[in-house]
Amino acid sequence: MTIPSTLTARSAPALAGVVRAPGDKSISHRALILGAMASGVTDIDGLLEGDDILATARAVAALGAGVERLGPGRWRVTGHGGFKQPAGVIDCGNAGTGVRLLMGAAAGYPITVTFDGDASLRKRPMKRVTGPLADMAARLAWSGEEDRLPVTITGGRLAAINYRQTVASAQIKSAILLAGLNADGVTAVTEPEPSRDHTERMLRAFGAEVGVLPDGAGWRVTFRGGQTLTAAPVTVPGDPSSAAFPLAAALIVPGSAVTVEGVMLNPLRTGLFETWREMGADLTVSNRRTAGGEEIGDITARHSALKGVVVPPERAASMIDEYPILAATAAFADGDTVMRGIGEMRLKESDRIALMAAGLQACGVAVEEEAEGFTVTGGSKNGSVRGGAAVTTHGDHRIAMSHLILGLAAADPVTVDQPAMIATSFPGFVELMRGLGADIGSA
Ligand code: S3P
Repeated sequence: MTIPSTLTARSAPALAGVVRAPGDKSISHRALILGAMASGVTDIDGLLEGDDILATARAVAALGAGVERLGPGRWRVTGHGGFKQPAGVIDCGNAGTGVRLLMGAAAGYPITVTFDGDASLRKRPMKRVTGPLADMAARLAWSGEEDRLPVTITGGRLAAINYRQTVASAQIKSAILLAGLNADGVTAVTEPEPSRDHTERMLRAFGAEVGVLPDGAGWRVTFRGGQTLTAAPVTVPGDPSSAAFPLAAALIVPGSAVTVEGVMLNPLRTGLFETWREMGADLTVSNRRTAGGEEIGDITARHSALKGVVVPPERAASMIDEYPILAATAAFADGDTVMRGIGEMRLKESDRIALMAAGLQACGVAVEEEAEGFTVTGGSKNGSVRGGAAVTTHGDHRIAMSHLILGLAAADPVTVDQPAMIATSFPGFVELMRGLGADIGSA
């Protein structure tokens, strides 16, 4: 199959249908990594087969785990109780979560590992993770610029630390906890607001004890070193961050009704749905059940008259990856949607504040950019957004998908570059959207 160099979304008739969200990216990374650190066979069902996860699968195989694909989404990881010395460089591709969690995990073993990534990952800060790992006694050597990949980590027996995060970040917290497995003493991480707790939940599912105590508006997570991880099956729930795209399309394309089944409802991930409800979105959740230790449900979105809101900054951690698609839907709302306290967005696969502001402005939407946030002024009471732009994505999957969704409800077509990057988190996005009636194509 040839991958087009651009994709274009055109104004669609009403979208309708029932689809399944792809497996959660955060949980998929963790299932592979913890499976490789544990002893025994971890059978994973519903693994996201996106490029980021495939890079992590290759990484844990290079680090000594047995990795087999048994069928679509069905993977088996055979762990030997820790990582082994890899033969070459560990290339994590575009995956920030993959590399940061793997660096933490690797630091606890007596091996020397060089981590690298693609051009985008090489631009992202790594000291936020390697700093605390160095405090735990891991040794680091930067190949080029400090704070940027490639970096070589020499691990071994570590010392526990007490780490207070200045921003809520599950990647930093998880890296420290995974290193803490092989540290002497009790490792503690304090967060100003709680970030997603998938690592803590999965460590418990693998037989370890993890403590949590409230700390101001956040929490303090503790983990005693020297515990044993025992392999356990993992069922990966649907990714709310991916489900957001078809649901957003239904909210903004008149006459639409779309259901996404099996979406994870962990409250540390559902800030977007809460925000959309405050904007007047018609969202209903049915068939609540549990899968893989998480609550899941089927979410139906219907076209809605949205109004602008002020998103509480303390909600940021529970929707940090969702601000691009929130901004796209805010373009169709009546009034201003104010998003603040989200400076972290500038450090993702791209500077997402700058790129969303530029893309929306090119589509005729008024956006006011700030250092740590932005305000989107909706397309007035008639709900119209001009579109008609070619948007630069800097290879960021969520920037691409957000603008394609916007294009489905805009007056004129919207084109994005580097659409192949969508497969990092949402392989099959275009086909899924077309199945709902969307007009997305290469010309
Ligand atoms: C993730 C944490 C978030 C998020 C990323 C996935 C995780 O990053 O943006 O896509 O799986 O732990 P930060 O921890 O840097 O906020």
